[in-house]
Amino acid sequence: MLASSSTCMAATGPVPFKDIDNGAFPVARDPEEEFGDLVVALPRKEQFLVGRLYKGFWLPEYFAPGMLAFQRRFTPRPDDVVLTSYPKCGTTWLKALAFAAMARDAYPPAAADHPLRRLNPHACIPFMEDIFIERREAMLDGLPSPRLINTHTPYSLLPEKVTTGGGCKVVYICRDPKDMVVSLYHFIRRLQPDLSFVDTFESVLDGTVPYGPMWDHILGYWHASVMHPDRVLFLKYEDLLQNTGEHVRKLAEFMGRPFSAAEETEGTVASVVELCSFNKMKNFEANKTGTTEGNYNSMAHDAFFRKGVTGDWVNHMSSEMASRLDEIFHDKLRGTVLT
Ligand code: A3P
Repeated sequence: MLASSSTCMAATGPVPFKDIDNGAFPVARDPEEEFGDLVVALPRKEQFLVGRLYKGFWLPEYFAPGMLAFQRRFTPRPDDVVLTSYPKCGTTWLKALAFAAMARDAYPPAAADHPLRRLNPHACIPFMEDIFIERREAMLDGLPSPRLINTHTPYSLLPEKVTTGGGCKVVYICRDPKDMVVSLYHFIRRLQPDLSFVDTFESVLDGTVPYGPMWDHILGYWHASVMHPDRVLFLKYEDLLQNTGEHVRKLAEFMGRPFSAAEETEGTVASVVELCSFNKMKNFEANKTGTTEGNYNSMAHDAFFRKGVTGDWVNHMSSEMASRLDEIFHDKLRGTVLT
């Protein structure tokens, strides 16, 4: 455990966010007080999560003030890496892979005391909406560089300093929307056991799903990755599953930490892949027990590790439902190479 923010500044990042939590960081301004009026004036939709429509996206009401505070107050460092995703598309896995790859000098992935063996990936990399709503943003200053941070914020709503090339990099992960709906349904059902699959499905189709419309979320990051390939890396969950090692190399290189020839020979890539594999992570005690702190309504850690496969949608929706979803995404993503 790192003892204080001054100690942290001497260390090299990334370090687990949880390890700098010494309870001594000053409490920031309350985003509810600052942005509450703005949020309550926005169009509202009550579904499994209350949504507020802000600049074309249905933000979860609970996180909206935190997201606005992140957008307006966050100061990126040139070597920050912002891990972004549509919910239920592989955020937890991306966090684990990025942390393991980026911090491999300080924490060799095969080491028995690797932080990912004792901490849930969400405790290693902070979720911005939550950090700001919980008024813990001073902790971000206490993290040594380079920092890894995470958000579901749509590209167009990211802090301007992030998108206009403050130097920092952005990594996005998306997934087949059909599998995302299934994953979301099971996830939210942990909080709301009566949730209907059809309602979850329809919210994706009509765009009111949290952080939706999903197609606009994807398109924002896709276009940014095409325009600024040096700054925005666009990943797909399915590709990662198919060849994890290749994507870990790509990710590490993009983040400025390519694997050396010696590391290749030593099997470091394979160690990262193995450490972060679904079966390994699901069975770590830290992921079988406990809940996230604050974020996702204190979600049970095991809720982030369900099946970890592609194509589970066949067990949940009819071919007619699948076609409806495919058609709308096909239409909305027309003109891109995304299918
Ligand atoms: P399923 O519900 O389909 O199993 P997020 O992290 O964005 O909330 O996404 C959760 C999804 O990623 C879940 O999908 C979960 O099982 C899967 N997942 C979590 N860790 C994973 C890993 N290490 N490898 C592959 N998939 C993983």
